[in-house]
Amino acid sequence: MSKTLINSFAKKIIAWHGLHGRQGLPWQGIRDPYAVWVSEIMLQQTQVATVIERYPRFIKRFPTVQKLAAAPLDDVLAEWSGLGYYSRARNLHACAKQVMTQFDGKFPNDPILLEQLKGIGRSTAGAIAAFAFHMRAPILDANVKRILARLFGIEEVVQVKAVNDQLWLLAQDLLPKNFQDMPVYTQALMDFGATWCTFRKPVCISAERKCPFEKQCQANLSNQVLQLPRKVIKNKSPEFDCDMLLIRCGNLVLLERRPDKAIWGGLWSLPESPWRPKSKAGQDSNLKVTELFNSILPQEDASALSKFCQSVERGDKIKHIFTHRRLWVQIWNVSVADTMQFTGEDLKWVSLRQLGKYGLPQPIKVLLQAVNLTRGDDPRN
Ligand code: ADE
Repeated sequence: MSKTLINSFAKKIIAWHGLHGRQGLPWQGIRDPYAVWVSEIMLQQTQVATVIERYPRFIKRFPTVQKLAAAPLDDVLAEWSGLGYYSRARNLHACAKQVMTQFDGKFPNDPILLEQLKGIGRSTAGAIAAFAFHMRAPILDANVKRILARLFGIEEVVQVKAVNDQLWLLAQDLLPKNFQDMPVYTQALMDFGATWCTFRKPVCISAERKCPFEKQCQANLSNQVLQLPRKVIKNKSPEFDCDMLLIRCGNLVLLERRPDKAIWGGLWSLPESPWRPKSKAGQDSNLKVTELFNSILPQEDASALSKFCQSVERGDKIKHIFTHRRLWVQIWNVSVADTMQFTGEDLKWVSLRQLGKYGLPQPIKVLLQAVNLTRGDDPRN
């Protein structure tokens, strides 16, 4: 491996950041580890543009780790609404409690200890340690792996454990000598990966801008930039069908709280059938309403609903893509004359106007917002 590149890397990327990096983002220049941690978790699977809008709002609502730990989980999930990947919000809440109980309300500065906390992986621990405590701790997210695989011409699949371990050692070797440079260096790596050394259109192939590493980058020198890093061949994500009931009584809608461990865990959603492998056949026109209700609600509730329902209509079909699964949801619009009592503890009638107070999965939120816009006003609610 090129010693010159290893020794000059930090300086060069910091210089690059001065000219082309992202500046003035709301979470930059902050040393409060709580605020750094929230920004890093939010940025993990959410676009910077969205985080610019939502991060200040989150910090305003939960300004300290104490406030976040003391808040009900439902409030945290509601504030996270629309950001997706809700396990991040559940982990955020659990981690805040851990910091209160195990670390006396103060985030540790050691990346090894940070990594013990819920929802903080090794790279995020490095980022928090670097930004908040100026520790010489490396990061190694997918963007950084791509930069290193290209620069150093690493041909092996980077997800393989031995290769990944090598990359961590390399990431450590590349750190600036001066700990005070850690925040700008870490931000520079993130920005360079996200904006210049991108997956599909790195600047070196467009020739519009000149990459500072063009003469040293092994992938560029051997014309292999788009081939590196090598990818594991993934199978297509499996597809599933399910049914959901949109049960309305005037301006009330029946919501069900999802189990904590499930997808969208802890959020409020519509009552849902178990998932089944996606059928190739067309829609079943001989729908049996009792079977549908029985597949979704406890038996007693399903029979009560069959008795009280006024109409059942096939509604929208929603496709939702999760990280490793695709789900097709058939919505059934059910109207009932009266708010019947349900036995399930996690079932609740909610006014369409009050939906903003609940953490809902994004596709369900969009669906119910559309229902809310078209609702006939009912004086009862
Ligand atoms: N992604 C993860 N952390 C980030 C940060 N601090 N700035 C920009 N993108 C990021």
